[in-house]
Amino acid sequence: MSKVMVLTSLNVDYTIKTTKIPEIGETVVASDLIENFGGKGANQLLGIHRLGVDTIAFGKVGKDALGEKYLHHLQGQGINTTYISQGPEKTGLAFIVVDEAGQNNICILPGANGSIDQTDLDNIRDKIADVDIIVSQLEVPIAITNTIFSIAKKLNKITVLNPAPFKASYKMLLKNTDILVPNESEFISMTNLPNKQLSQEDILQLSPQILNEGPSYLIVTMGGAGVLVTSPEDQRFISAKKVAAIDTTAAGDSFIGGLVSQLVTTKEAMPTFEQVVHAAEFGNKVAALTVQKNGAQDSLPTLKEVTNYWLDK
Ligand code: RIB
Ligand code: NA
Repeated sequence: MSKVMVLTSLNVDYTIKTTKIPEIGETVVASDLIENFGGKGANQLLGIHRLGVDTIAFGKVGKDALGEKYLHHLQGQGINTTYISQGPEKTGLAFIVVDEAGQNNICILPGANGSIDQTDLDNIRDKIADVDIIVSQLEVPIAITNTIFSIAKKLNKITVLNPAPFKASYKMLLKNTDILVPNESEFISMTNLPNKQLSQEDILQLSPQILNEGPSYLIVTMGGAGVLVTSPEDQRFISAKKVAAIDTTAAGDSFIGGLVSQLVTTKEAMPTFEQVVHAAEFGNKVAALTVQKNGAQDSLPTLKEVTNYWLDK
C-alpha cells in the first residue's frame, strides 16, 4: 500500500551561480548555468521516496520535450508516473539565482502545474483512501488541493501543507490542514508582519491565531536559525545543524520529506507533539545534508546517507 500522496508540482530549474543576488536595477555576472529537475512538490516527493517510503505522485507536465524528459527522469528514479498527466501548456519552469553563501531567490512559471483539472482529479480520487498522508504546496491550483484535502480529512488522513509560494488564498486550506510548514518569508506574509528579521517571540505570539483556524501543528523553518514547532498546548525550538551551505535550493522541501517520512509510522492517527518534534528533528538532519550539495533533487539524500552521516556526529 502506498503511504504518502504528493501533489507533485514539477519544474525544470535553471540555476545560475553568482557572487551576490542582484538588487533591483543591478546587473551581476554569473559563473555558471545548471539545468536541474525541481518543483517543490517533486522535490518533496523524491525526498520522501529516497527515504524509503511508498509514494503516489499526482501532477502535470507539458506535452513537450521537457515534459517527456521529466517523466523519463522520474521513472528512472523508480517513481510511478501513472497519475502525472500531460497538457498543452509548457512544462513548469523555475529561474533560480544562488549566491556564494548558498542563499537563493526563485521565480517560477507554473505552466502545466497550474492547469491540473477536474479530469486529472477524477483519475486519482479513489487513491486518497489508500494513503496515510497527503502533502501539498501552492504550486498547483489551490482548488485542487482544497478538494483533495477535504476528501482526505473525511477519511481521517493526515494533511501537510507547505504554503509556498505564498498566496493569500492559502487560508481556505487551513480548516483541512493538520500540519502547516511555512518558512520565515511565508510566515511573515501569512501574518502580515512588516518585512523584518523574524524572531521566535513573533512566531510564538502569532501562532495561536493560525492554529485557531485548523492546523494541529505549525512548524516554521528558519534556515540557519532553526525550526520552531508549535501546537495549541506546546512549543519546541530545534536548533539548526551547523554545516557549510553550498546551495540551499530544496532545503525546505527536503525538510518536509524528512518530516513526512517519520510521520508515516503513526498511520492514520494524529501524531503526538513529541512524534512531530522527533519527525522535525529528522527533517532538520535531512535538510543539513541537502544544503551541502548543488541543485534540488540531486542533493536529496537516501535513508542510508542520512543515517551514516549523523552516526558519529
Ligand atoms: O523549493 C525549491 C523549488 O522551488 C525549486 O526546485 C523550484 O522549482 C521551485 O519550485
Ligand atoms: Na541543494
